[in-house]
Amino acid sequence: MVRVAVFASGTGSNYEAIMRYTAGLADPGFGINLVVSDQPQAGVIAKALRWQTPVLVVERRQFATKKAFEHQILARLKQDQIDFIALAGYMRLIGPTLLQEYYGKIINLHPSLLPAFPGLDAVGQALKAGVKVTGVTVHFVDAGMDTGPIIAQKAVPIDENDDHESLSQKIHAVEHELYPRIVHQCALGEIYLDRGKVCRLSR
Ligand code: GAR
Repeated sequence: MVRVAVFASGTGSNYEAIMRYTAGLADPGFGINLVVSDQPQAGVIAKALRWQTPVLVVERRQFATKKAFEHQILARLKQDQIDFIALAGYMRLIGPTLLQEYYGKIINLHPSLLPAFPGLDAVGQALKAGVKVTGVTVHFVDAGMDTGPIIAQKAVPIDENDDHESLSQKIHAVEHELYPRIVHQCALGEIYLDRGKVCRLSR
């Protein structure tokens, strides 16, 4: 079984979507063995307890440097023999400490059609820009902010009367359908990174 950690800072609806997806498969070949959160109050923690996933909470402010912070996370990932990392609303840049160990084995979910609207509040950015279509991107993580090689994208149309809440809901619905499948394929190595290019094994 491929051992996966989910990193999340927020409510964790995408973590839960992955849990539901795996629960529905007879032989997923991977499991979520750890949730890592940098926010002690994050909703994802209660969800992880309900699904009986072990949780590591580490706050950045408890460490003098980002390196020390990531070393603490890395030590737990090693201890728990984590093979693969899925970011699901983790609102920090992954630094060199984690990237060196897991490059090609970390993916991220972002609520826009990258390279449009990277960074914080991509939904708000899209509304402010007045675009008629936004969406969801899944990509391999590199050292940049939402810049790594793109694995999958889905468009979400913006209606005239959409506000932040309604658009967020539409985006979440698309994420919940898309991300678990991509996590599955990447964790199993069916989608992988080779010299910076996204490759797929044909079945
Ligand atoms: C998701 O919409 C995800 O795309 C976004 O955070 C949300 C987390 O929702 N991620 C980013 O903005 C990363 N830059 P969730 O906590 O309900 O899964």
